[in-house]
Amino acid sequence: MQTLTLTRPDDFHLHLRDGAAMRDALPWSARQFARAIIMPNLKPPVVRLQQALDYRDRILAALPAGSDFTPLMTLYLTDDTTPEMVEEARTSGVVHAFKLYPAGATTNSDSGVTELKRIYPALEAMQRVGMPLLIHGEVTDPDVDVFDREAVFIDRHLVALHRAFPELKIVLEHITTAHAAAYVREASELDAQGVPRLAATITAHHLLHNRNAMFRGGLRPHYYCLPVLKRETHRQALLDAATSGDPRFFLGTDSAPHARNTKETACGCAGCFTAANALELYCAAFEQRDALQRLDDFASRFGAAFYGLPRNSGTLTLERSAWDVPAMLPYADAEIVPLHAGEVMEWRLAAAG
Ligand code: DOR
Ligand code: ZN
Repeated sequence: MQTLTLTRPDDFHLHLRDGAAMRDALPWSARQFARAIIMPNLKPPVVRLQQALDYRDRILAALPAGSDFTPLMTLYLTDDTTPEMVEEARTSGVVHAFKLYPAGATTNSDSGVTELKRIYPALEAMQRVGMPLLIHGEVTDPDVDVFDREAVFIDRHLVALHRAFPELKIVLEHITTAHAAAYVREASELDAQGVPRLAATITAHHLLHNRNAMFRGGLRPHYYCLPVLKRETHRQALLDAATSGDPRFFLGTDSAPHARNTKETACGCAGCFTAANALELYCAAFEQRDALQRLDDFASRFGAAFYGLPRNSGTLTLERSAWDVPAMLPYADAEIVPLHAGEVMEWRLAAAG
């Protein structure tokens, strides 16, 4: 295969940040994706509808001329999220999901949920009005090994939550383990249209790398993200899930920009910046399984079906043509290091239309 034409894809998990950082990060996503689910972990977090409306306006104002990119907004769940806030968000038509960060799990999650029982009234409302719940699925208990935190979250919390709210639409975000893939496959029934109630997004970095990438010849901060990369058996299970044609698994880059100096430091931030070469990275992953013909479903169909959105009308074409990923890109008043910086990529973005 020398060229690959996809339906214009969507990114169902994206961090855009705000201000000058957002203005530099956004064009990379708008170039490839028609729509993206925008994470609400700003400082302060996007908790109320009005904050989401204002953030959306800032994103739209920062789009390159002629771009038709649509930001799909989310709200950040806290212990104080009420059923009324859920209903108001649904009525707005602008908010497409609520994000659950266990308090302290990752970047800007300090205002997250301290105990799941506290948000049961909000979850009940979300189930009732058909508002999806997006989960950062890691326990925050410091006694749990960092490589086990996703599996422990599933066993300690997600199984019970899914049983308590069987009709609630749930996305377990950026899954990293065989355990998560198996749970989503087995626990999630498809409706009459073949749409799952429980689904998972998978990043390109978790499809392409195992935890060795963080330690290859020294400490490599640009491969550090949360949930952290796992061992090779888990990567293989994620590749199985992504390339299986199962609608429970779809694309979410979790592209998480951090300026270079905040990654290359004694206590570096978690996050891989993949927006600048997202589809090229997914092509490399799918090609490992000779499954490029499955990428369209994963990138452009299953996620939209889950969120009840129409399929995009445009296309995106990639061609097999080697190119070097830049070592750095401009980012606010600093620079950012994209994933695979300085390396050769086999697939190149050819056209979007
Ligand atoms: O690696 C990550 N970076 N994981 C997250 O959950 C948050 C994200 C960020 O916002 O930087
Ligand atoms: Zn994220």
